[in-house]
Amino acid sequence: MCGIVGYVGDGQAAPFLLEGLTRLEYRGYDSAGIAVYDGEKIRIEKSVGRLSELKKKIEGNVPVGSTGIGHTRWATHGRPSDMNAHPHADCHGDFAVVHNGIIENYMTLKEDLIAKGHIFVSETDTEVLAHLLEEVYDGDFESSVRKVLSMVEGSYSLVFMSRRDPGMLICSKQDNPLVIGLGDGENFIASDIPAIINRTRRTYILSDGEIAVVKKDAIWVTNHAGEPITKKVFEVNWNAEAAEKGGYEHFMLKEIHEQPKAVRATLSSRLAKDDSAVVLDELKWNRGFLDSVNRIFIVACGTAYHAGLVGKYYIERMARIPVECDIASEFRYRAPIVDDHTLTIVISQSGETIDTLAALKEAKRLGSRTLAVTNVVGSSIARDADQVIYTWAGPEIAVASTKAYTTQLIVMLLIALYMAGIKETMPQKRIAELIRGAREIPTQIGKTLEDVDPIKTFAKQYGFNEDVFFIGRSLDYDVALEGALKLKEISYIHAEAYAAGELKHGTLALIVEGVPVIALATQKSVYEKTLSNIKEVKARDAVVIGIAAEGDTELKKYADHVIYVPEADEMLIPLLTVVPLQLLAYYAALTRGCDVDKPRNLAKSVTVE
Ligand code: F6R
Repeated sequence: MCGIVGYVGDGQAAPFLLEGLTRLEYRGYDSAGIAVYDGEKIRIEKSVGRLSELKKKIEGNVPVGSTGIGHTRWATHGRPSDMNAHPHADCHGDFAVVHNGIIENYMTLKEDLIAKGHIFVSETDTEVLAHLLEEVYDGDFESSVRKVLSMVEGSYSLVFMSRRDPGMLICSKQDNPLVIGLGDGENFIASDIPAIINRTRRTYILSDGEIAVVKKDAIWVTNHAGEPITKKVFEVNWNAEAAEKGGYEHFMLKEIHEQPKAVRATLSSRLAKDDSAVVLDELKWNRGFLDSVNRIFIVACGTAYHAGLVGKYYIERMARIPVECDIASEFRYRAPIVDDHTLTIVISQSGETIDTLAALKEAKRLGSRTLAVTNVVGSSIARDADQVIYTWAGPEIAVASTKAYTTQLIVMLLIALYMAGIKETMPQKRIAELIRGAREIPTQIGKTLEDVDPIKTFAKQYGFNEDVFFIGRSLDYDVALEGALKLKEISYIHAEAYAAGELKHGTLALIVEGVPVIALATQKSVYEKTLSNIKEVKARDAVVIGIAAEGDTELKKYADHVIYVPEADEMLIPLLTVVPLQLLAYYAALTRGCDVDKPRNLAKSVTVE
């Protein structure tokens, strides 16, 4: 989604703005622009398309100046075009602004401003911010920005610059992330840490409603009422290298290979040494609290939602508390039955997904206790929830989520085991067995990654099919959903996942000769049933690629090919079976020449509805 950068300091603004925006490219965008104060005027340069287009446009004539802002836009209001790209300016070029989010009352404001003589040049909601500032500016930049913000409704992170107030940027946020990087004789603003990470690891993370005035040697933060706020420095604990490709062709491949490390980190210090219990110091729940919870909602989007489905299974099976798993954009609008006996768990890699954040706020409003599972420390969701458990996956850059998913599964397992331990809903022996099994998972994922040649071959063989089906039962079905999403989003192959038992209720009509069906068969209680479903599709001449645990001798009798993953407890095996599906999607996308890390129309962090 859109990216924001800002620079004020002793150095040149443009090189940082371009470098910062490059580091935010992974978020997905369709146009880019920068604005730099050159001592006389604010020079704005923008271009539709990739950042390389913008760089080409200003080659040999890069804006000179030490205060500037930049933006990568992902179109919401108005098509991708040079005009609609940010930064946007007022009528006289006195002010420029970059903005992520949506100004919901922009039409009313725009009509009013047009009536007062303002000339608009773009179709965006953002442009009203610049004209509004021009309209209310009274010589005091800070109080004028405060006035503008009091007039707008919606979600935003934004940065203003002013020709009349050189050497000063003003930024604020509401439901969209924004950080300030603290430098020496220079300061930085960004919507996301990777933009500034190779300049500084010392940051202020802005909270909703805060307004920061940023100069090269001073920063002050206030709330909407103008009262000062003391910010704590947040030290980022990962480095630029962690956000780079490290020799892999794509971030996605790097992140798939980082899964053993990420899962190990997420488990570390959360398991008792003697394997007797899960230790979640973050939660400190007791029997009284868990007995008071009569229903759990797990709410998330996309891949995180798929992790939630596995979480539902874990919690219901292990802790015997009813769980509903909901898509955040549905939950927030469907008047869910939530009260103070409800626990709502939201899962979000970025911690910024607007629907998940809104669902969290709605659950809180209705009286629910809330727990966030997220990968980003200090993210909006982490800050809004009553409690947080972090996945320690490190920065996930590729749009397609991989290591975030596996670490989310691990956290859901930990939560379920932790609950089961407190509620005594599971024999101690079984808890210890699963903990021992979880300890093995990182090594087993590593083994799954050792031999990818068969997967490459299947990807080449079937990568040009237009439809692929994924089937499975129980936890295999949940993983099938994630496998299908991965394939769709990066290879653009139409892929659907079905509970294998559902096939006969309609989908079987689509199974004809040569259609690839990826069949997961790892769940013992439904194994025979899954085999029957596989026979059904084989009888329609589908090509079946089976996914099974080592030691399975049956599946190969019915499938055309079988990919084996190490043998593991059937509760834990989703952490392994998803890996070949991620790789299949990756190599299929490569076969089809797709932009793996930045698939079309998609963005990493979905901060608009
Ligand atoms: C798919 C993918 C998305 C995200 C979804 C939620 O690979 O990455 O489906 O899972 O947009 O994002 P987060 O987890 O950041 O809330």
